[in-house]
Amino acid sequence: MIPEEKVREVAERISIVEVVSEYVQLRRSGGNFLGLCPFHGEKTPSFNVNPAREIFHCFGCGAGGNAFSFLMKIEGVSFPEAVKILARKSGVEIEERQLSQAEKQAQDERQQFQKINELATNYYRSILTKGQEGEQARQYLARRAVESDISEAYRLGFAPDRRDGLVKHLNSNGAVLEVALKLGIIRKGDAGWFDLFRNRLIFPICDARGQIIAFAGRVLDSSLPKYINSPESPLYHKSSVLFGLDMALQSIRNENAVIIVEGYFDHLALYRAGIRNVVATCGTALTPTHAALIKRHAERVYTLFDSDSAGKKATIRSMELFLEQRIPADVIMLPAGDDPDSFLSKQSTEAFFEQRDKARPIFDFFVRSLLQETPPSSVSNKVKVINELSPCFKKIGDTAERSLYEKEICRLLDIRTHEFRKQLGGLSPARSHQAPVVNGNIPVIDRSQEMLLALMGNFPEALETIRGQGVGTLFEGDYLTLAETILKETANIDSPDWSAMMGRLDKQELRDMLSRLLFSASQLEGMDWQIAFDDCRQARIKKQLTTKNISLRLAVIDPDSEEHAALLKLADEELRTRKSKF
Ligand code: UTP
Ligand code: MN
Repeated sequence: MIPEEKVREVAERISIVEVVSEYVQLRRSGGNFLGLCPFHGEKTPSFNVNPAREIFHCFGCGAGGNAFSFLMKIEGVSFPEAVKILARKSGVEIEERQLSQAEKQAQDERQQFQKINELATNYYRSILTKGQEGEQARQYLARRAVESDISEAYRLGFAPDRRDGLVKHLNSNGAVLEVALKLGIIRKGDAGWFDLFRNRLIFPICDARGQIIAFAGRVLDSSLPKYINSPESPLYHKSSVLFGLDMALQSIRNENAVIIVEGYFDHLALYRAGIRNVVATCGTALTPTHAALIKRHAERVYTLFDSDSAGKKATIRSMELFLEQRIPADVIMLPAGDDPDSFLSKQSTEAFFEQRDKARPIFDFFVRSLLQETPPSSVSNKVKVINELSPCFKKIGDTAERSLYEKEICRLLDIRTHEFRKQLGGLSPARSHQAPVVNGNIPVIDRSQEMLLALMGNFPEALETIRGQGVGTLFEGDYLTLAETILKETANIDSPDWSAMMGRLDKQELRDMLSRLLFSASQLEGMDWQIAFDDCRQARIKKQLTTKNISLRLAVIDPDSEEHAALLKLADEELRTRKSKF
């Protein structure tokens, strides 16, 4: 933990413009600075930095925050790490608070894990690169055209066919075997300690920062299992790791897209071909954590799986995830019988790019493969196709996209839209009564709450009015959390420190939201805050209250309050519209 006053001292000494300028070329634009957003690909700048408030916001992708969160996002570091980096730059000395016994132990163990993984990697690597025991593996790599530069880039290694080679290496280098046991790379049996990996080519698996967290080992022949992997450990959770992410980050940012492959060797093949925005799952299906991780770095995804039926299944399985998370995903298809490695060993990188440019939206791919299996030649087949695609169809978050697909499906099945809808609806009649599924990661923008927050951030009078009235009826969800934070942080303060406030918000969504509203000042120019405020408040009250709970609310609030008057007016309107219906 870094003491708060230290964080403040660092914040006072740095300027966000300087920090951002190390990554983004900024030019002045009015009171702000403007540049191309480093977090998503764009050709016209929508990335704003406000030096007065020490914050940034991108109108393209919605990212926002202060200097610390900028660094966290762009370097993939934690908050304390970001503070330390900037402290070093600005010459602030940070002595860390005394760690508790438990914290010290945890930190110490992490350091030991790191050391053990480094020792193991170096051990496997030296076996591969030197001496007789690595000969077979060297020949294997040569057969697969893996040159030494690639082998070096991945830090490939070879586990010799020995019972306890790694055990001995760790032991003689002072590592605690009980700690290595927790990483699962060595084990303890009746006859003593022994290695997990034997006679296998070793791929170190790294986290996003390039720290080794696990290993995968491939046999050199066709015996089974083809791969064994480190078990889950305090460092390694395979459902949240993407192999090769550390090597790919820069290129993912440049391309604003990521290619997902299934195999370690696929990753290697693309890397060798100079295609770097690639990650692989580690022998699992894609998980929501993977999807969230991807979404943090790229706006679109390409899946590149084997052209066999297993690859097709994996593609379709991943589709639901992309639809739910609203990540645009396209499927790169390879000629029958090929995987990325075999394709690229015969074809050029350009040929690969041609395949990529022909990639089809994943839902399109899905519909077409359904139709291949079940040609829509009879009514029962059509019904079958609709039933099979309907759960996924309903997950398409974007309404425009959904209606395009609806048209396309109806065309392919040669049916009318209303027939399609009827069949869809018939499957889950309860569905239409349920609240729309709102995706947790996509900000659902509510105009009135958005405006009310913008007023709070830009008009001190509006801020005080809202403070007086309370935020309970005006906001909900994340908006409410943010509004409450703003009120708390600005109480009895003349000029709020928005950047510091940003730092105290622990959710990226909230930081994005705050930066968005602070940058909305230009749109508010010349606006009468009072009128805007009244409109929004009306809209909010209307949205929340039915006639029934209007009267409930009326019963409990101060009859002299503005809210009371507003509610009365609303109740009156409600009554009128009801009457006119009869
Ligand atoms: P593949 O069998 O396609 O492996 O499995 P590959 O890496 O492409 O290897 P080559 O080109 O055939 O030599 C794809 C991925 O599935 C996981 C691994 O992550 C592998 O890279 N896998 C596969 C396992 O975890 N265990 C296995 O036994 C097989
Ligand atoms: Mn493969």
